[in-house]
Amino acid sequence: MSAIRKVVVCGAGGTMGAGIAMVAARAGFQTICFDQSAEALARSRKSAEGFFAKAVEKGRMAAEDRDATLARLQDETDLAALADCDLVIEAIFENLAAKQQLFTRLNGICKPDTIFASNTSTLSITEIAGGCGREDRVIGMHFCLPAQMMKLIEMSRGMNTSDAVFRAAWGWTEAAGQLPVETQDRPGFILNALLVPFNNDVLRAIEAGVATPEDIDTAIRGALGYKMGPCALLDLIGLDTQVRLGEAFYPITLDPRAAVPPILRRLVAAGRLGAKSGRGLLTGISRDRAGTAPGFALVRGGDSRSFPEGDSFLDRAAPGSVTLCIGGAYAPDPAQTAILVELGTECLGHHTGEDSGREGSNVLGFARYRNGYDAPTGLIEIVRQPGTDPAALEAARAVFEAAGFTTVVCADRPGRIIDRLVRPKYNDALRFLDEGLALATDLDKTCCLGLGYPDGPIERVTRGGLAWHHQVSTTLQRLTGLAGYAPARAAVLAADRSAEGLA
Ligand SMILES: NC(=O)c1ccc[n+]([C@@H]2O[C@H](COP(=O)([O-])OP(=O)(O)OC[C@H]3O[C@@H](n4cnc5c(N)ncnc54)[C@H](O)[C@@H]3O)[C@@H](O)[C@H]2O)c1
Repeated sequence: MSAIRKVVVCGAGGTMGAGIAMVAARAGFQTICFDQSAEALARSRKSAEGFFAKAVEKGRMAAEDRDATLARLQDETDLAALADCDLVIEAIFENLAAKQQLFTRLNGICKPDTIFASNTSTLSITEIAGGCGREDRVIGMHFCLPAQMMKLIEMSRGMNTSDAVFRAAWGWTEAAGQLPVETQDRPGFILNALLVPFNNDVLRAIEAGVATPEDIDTAIRGALGYKMGPCALLDLIGLDTQVRLGEAFYPITLDPRAAVPPILRRLVAAGRLGAKSGRGLLTGISRDRAGTAPGFALVRGGDSRSFPEGDSFLDRAAPGSVTLCIGGAYAPDPAQTAILVELGTECLGHHTGEDSGREGSNVLGFARYRNGYDAPTGLIEIVRQPGTDPAALEAARAVFEAAGFTTVVCADRPGRIIDRLVRPKYNDALRFLDEGLALATDLDKTCCLGLGYPDGPIERVTRGGLAWHHQVSTTLQRLTGLAGYAPARAAVLAADRSAEGLA
């Protein structure tokens, strides 16, 4: 049973504060919604009324519970009214000085045992607590967006946080029906430390013309089962917020992947902030389904990763205007509408030479995504070159879509869409474990609960095979020269053991 009865949410007029207040009130806590702006508080109250009205409508909440919950929410713009609360959760602007000043002022107002929690995404809990006068009673309590729907809370101690306070705050999150995970006081805790560089990689892929935002989302959802594609998530978070996250991370981590990509600044300058401005990365325009599929003849080399022996897709082979080359085969034939070459970790240019495909080439690459040794997914990346004949591309899409596959189109770049984006994230996640920043289970749980992934990065990369991850990462590092692809220690170890026949 939590000894905390009365909760204050500072910044309750904002996106996160509004949701956190709903969580507290819904769980039965008397909740003061404090903000410097009365108009913002009025907006939050409206959104709480709307949220709980929907819950009643959908039968998830009784009408009396809704009324009682709303009655527990009390708006306040006077700091002096917060004196007798047990827990303050601040979700004001992401600004160190503003947060420090708020806690210092509250220290003079609140009773001595009130706990101060910060919902910061990037700042240090120790620094926020520094000089406030009760450093032992300050903790990090990072909710996920939208707070009223997402259960995960990343809980971090500052250097001076007492065990008793950490336990009390942890107990409160459980009493509020949330799922806490312990994280370290480092920039981005677990979630944003993995997400901010990953989202920047997505933006750089768009900037480099690898694929459209729509195809990137389709590829990631189809291959990895994420509930939401990264571009949809960026549009929801706000592209201006992503700029601020990058600006906070880069100076601390000096990780080039954390630095704000130039395209992001241009999007923000153009007013394309995502959902909040009505325009962001996604256009909402989807490609038409491909037309009637031509027949395809099969040319086999060795084993195929996309269509292993016995795969029912191969039964569809019949003489036609398309040639499908699998298992390392490549047979040019300008008389065909399309030559489709199965790719592994190599680029299409490896088979055709870099200049082929610049003028009306009929050759395309393809790969059906597989997480290492997992079964192949239903997602096919089709690789075009700059001058690929549109009729060849159309034929490629038709062949695969007629068989029920989802297709995306990408440029002939190392890692195509999916491996290009996920391999650095897996390396980051593995390094997290090496540095003792999280347990594998907590790291995976954080990603599943906070981001709606069907499995965590550690589980996925391990299941697919660390030696396989090593092979893909090493190839991508060789082709791009980028440090993010340098395989993490566990992958190097797995590759060495495999080479020596130990695994
Ligand atoms: N938006 C997200 O996805 C997200 C997710 C997790 C954590 N966070 C963190 O939550 C915090 C708030 O983010 P947000 O996106 O909800 O911001 P926001 O701009 O939507 O809301 C901030 C609110 O704080 C109020 N405010 C600012 N200074 C204040 C002060 N001194 N006293 C009282 N009220 C004050 C503002 O009036 C505003 O209503 C930040 O620390 C952010 O890093 C954000």
